[in-house]
Amino acid sequence: MATGVTLEIRDLRLYGAAELRPLLGVESEIWRRRLDWEYKGSARLLLEYLDARSLPGFVAVEQGEILGYVFCVYEAHKAVIGNVFAAPRVIGDWSTADSPPRHEVERLLLEQAVTLLTHSPGVDRVETQLLLHPAGEHGATLAAHGFQRAERLYLERMLQRAPAQASQTGSAAPDRSQAIVGGCRLRPWRDAEMQAAAQLIVAAYPDHPDSRINDQYRSLSGAQRFLHNIVRFPGCGSFVPEASFLAVDALSGALAGMVLSSQISSGCGHITQICVAPGYRRRGLAEWLLDEAIAALEARGMERLTLTVTASNGDAIRLYQRKGFAERHRFDAAVWERVRL
Ligand SMILES: CC(C)(COP(=O)(O)OP(=O)(O)OC[C@H]1O[C@@H](n2cnc3c(N)ncnc32)[C@H](O)[C@@H]1OP(=O)(O)O)[C@@H](O)C(=O)NCCC(=O)NCCS
Repeated sequence: MATGVTLEIRDLRLYGAAELRPLLGVESEIWRRRLDWEYKGSARLLLEYLDARSLPGFVAVEQGEILGYVFCVYEAHKAVIGNVFAAPRVIGDWSTADSPPRHEVERLLLEQAVTLLTHSPGVDRVETQLLLHPAGEHGATLAAHGFQRAERLYLERMLQRAPAQASQTGSAAPDRSQAIVGGCRLRPWRDAEMQAAAQLIVAAYPDHPDSRINDQYRSLSGAQRFLHNIVRFPGCGSFVPEASFLAVDALSGALAGMVLSSQISSGCGHITQICVAPGYRRRGLAEWLLDEAIAALEARGMERLTLTVTASNGDAIRLYQRKGFAERHRFDAAVWERVRL
């Protein structure tokens, strides 16, 4: 196919942080504009990996200038395409006037990564969530390689400014430890409960669209890795333990539900996880957990709240609509699985 693009695609590990920093600077600005997301934490981590020359991926280079990159992460037999990005010539104009076109650079990078991974005998599964990219933007490339796509929504709602005194102390929430909803009490998140929280995830997501796009939801070890990433690493924002809660059965002490929150920019919180065990659903627990997270984020001065949800997850979408969330952006998750004959 004639593309008119004269690019070289090279191994990402040939490049260090200094060479990628300007591109990541442009990308951070686009994350901020499109998603209200401060990407700098993730960019910093990426730069560290780049300097360690340990990040598999590719860069697109034209006359010595790095126009775009794609990177992957390996997890046993699975690979995750973490991101593909090419800088537009003009920030804010993502569709026109680029030469070579931004979309074409990204397509070539994605093509390269997908071809490498799907031809690696040790890789049985490839996942990606192209959060920054509008749904369908790279759909043709992914479909051509046998990926299944699932649309995901990026939802947002406004929060109310907490009274000045509350935001100064950062803890306006009254003591709710005695309240009981649906037979459960709430208590703040504790790292010590990571194992029980991982068990809850596995119990909450069988035959669920999210466990089809992220296989970490299907096993205890996967769910532990998922939680570990949320709590320790900046990929989903900085974890806010004060706005993360567990719902616990008031009689048995069993973990029935949880909500985890992070901060993705100075005024914006993000729900990184909310789930309720099947036996405790339709008692108002998820709404209660969300209300508590919202109150705690408002007390910390957050003005907006975002989250992602798979478009086919009707139970969750009804909850979010009830709580005033509206769609801001739509993106693709995609999965490829090796068919063994
Ligand atoms: C989505 C999810 C968190 C909802 O949890 P939940 O605790 O059942 O949610 P709620 O009880 O607050 O609301 C669920 C329904 O029960 C109804 N309900 C609430 N209290 C009720 C009560 N006392 N009696 C009867 N119905 C009740 C709500 O009106 C709501 O009805 P709707 O679905 O028709 O709108 C849960 O289904 C889940 O864990 N799913 C799997 C994980 C998941 O998808 N998480 C979201 C990822 S983005």
